[in-house]
Amino acid sequence: MGIFSTSLVLLAVAALSAADGDDEFANYTITDRKFPDGFTFGVATAAYQIEGAWNIDGKGEQVWDTFIHERPERVDDLSTGDVASDSYHRYEDDVRCMKEVGVDYYRFSIAWSRIIPDGSGDKVSNEGIEYYTKLFKELKANGIKTMVTLYHWDLPTALEKQGGWLNPKIVEWFQQYALTCYTLFGEYVDVWVTINEPKQICHTGYGNGAYAPGVVSPGVGEYMCARHVLLAHAGAWRMFDEQFRPRLGSRNTIVIDSDWYEPATESEADRRAAEDKLQFVHGMYAHPVFKGDWPQVMTDNVATFSRLQGFKGSRLPAFTRQEVDFVRGTYDFLALNHYTTYMVSAIEGQEYPTEVSWDTDSGVNSYQKDTWQTAAIGWFKIVPWGFGKILRWLKATYGDIEIVITENGVSDRTGTLRDQHRIDYFKAYMSHMLDAMYDGGVNVTAYTAWSIIDNFEWTQGFNAKLGMYYVNMSDPLRPRIAKDSSKYFSSIISTRCLLDSCQ
Ligand code: BGC
Repeated sequence: MGIFSTSLVLLAVAALSAADGDDEFANYTITDRKFPDGFTFGVATAAYQIEGAWNIDGKGEQVWDTFIHERPERVDDLSTGDVASDSYHRYEDDVRCMKEVGVDYYRFSIAWSRIIPDGSGDKVSNEGIEYYTKLFKELKANGIKTMVTLYHWDLPTALEKQGGWLNPKIVEWFQQYALTCYTLFGEYVDVWVTINEPKQICHTGYGNGAYAPGVVSPGVGEYMCARHVLLAHAGAWRMFDEQFRPRLGSRNTIVIDSDWYEPATESEADRRAAEDKLQFVHGMYAHPVFKGDWPQVMTDNVATFSRLQGFKGSRLPAFTRQEVDFVRGTYDFLALNHYTTYMVSAIEGQEYPTEVSWDTDSGVNSYQKDTWQTAAIGWFKIVPWGFGKILRWLKATYGDIEIVITENGVSDRTGTLRDQHRIDYFKAYMSHMLDAMYDGGVNVTAYTAWSIIDNFEWTQGFNAKLGMYYVNMSDPLRPRIAKDSSKYFSSIISTRCLLDSCQ
């Protein structure tokens, strides 16, 4: 049972609870319910954040290499992922950490430009293939299953030079890359993830430009990107489904991240606003895959606002009927990355936003409360109850679907070995998850912690550490040192319980 085979079903009934204030959460007690049989635990990383070796053994340059080398000031501590945790040379140490913790599976990503240095074409890198083959073998030898992400934001720069995710050809390029990986590594992979967090790729990469490749095209480029990401995912999933699944028996899906959006008050307007925001954030990518086409509120808002803003047509590019059918149903389960929560209120008396962007197209206000505890990353407030709420919302929205948590975790600045805050975070977040499973009947079958080791946290550089193992980024040997949280996570896996004892 579980993510690697058939679904696990929990019998429970519960209604969605109404909007809540903070008080209700103050007295929350960590559950002593057990993780059900078949529930599995993993840890996650991504190529650019851990591998290093950015330009050796024939690896091609990718957009994060280029972005950070050209604009070093974009990273808080001016660091780079050039060496990062040096997992390219120290992957055996990573596997040793995982073995020590006792995880069931490892979620990691393949660097596209390590396999196809130019992004497209016939040239593949044997050294790149060798690296991942060694990693797969090491994992297998240690009894650790694999969940492999094809794309965790590191587009080969050669493709970005041709427009990257804004060029419709990306759909073909991505399929060719996916085919190469399925063919080369299919025998080693238990679960494939086509794309990680399309929201970050499109809104930070081609909307506000905060992340690589740093293209600023709010309200226009970000939607083109989204359309291409969805078509690329669907193409890669369908190819897998037809050509590889029958032989390999593995599974395949897309990872979509979402915060929880809580109505600021009980008013109908705020409830509507929170739902609209969820549709713009999660629904934008999930609705086409799980239900078909963009969410209605997106189609409506963007069309109306575009007209009032003086555009000729809607800034949201439509899918053809054929494309809607092509994208719909391209999943094996719903994969969620979740970290934080926002409050949402309606904007009264606004005919249309003057600023053009995906963010303003949702037509609502969102904010985080000052009273919520903050992690090292600014946007990142610790709100465990939001996790339970989004899980219940997913079930209410997409039906009784299998859900896998593909990322969840918390940052700090120091990488302290006595990371009680991370233990508290895991405990509280997973407790709300268990409640959603038992009381809400939400079918969660696996939980993946981000991350096993400290790594390069994008524009936070090494200022934000999320590992269960400390890595000193100035030590050339990059030793991995266990933090307290690794022992706690290990105890959850062996006892299947968040507390000292369970029911
Ligand atoms: C990303 C990770 C990142 C994590 C913590 C997720 O959005 O997939 O790459 O490290 O958040 O910020």
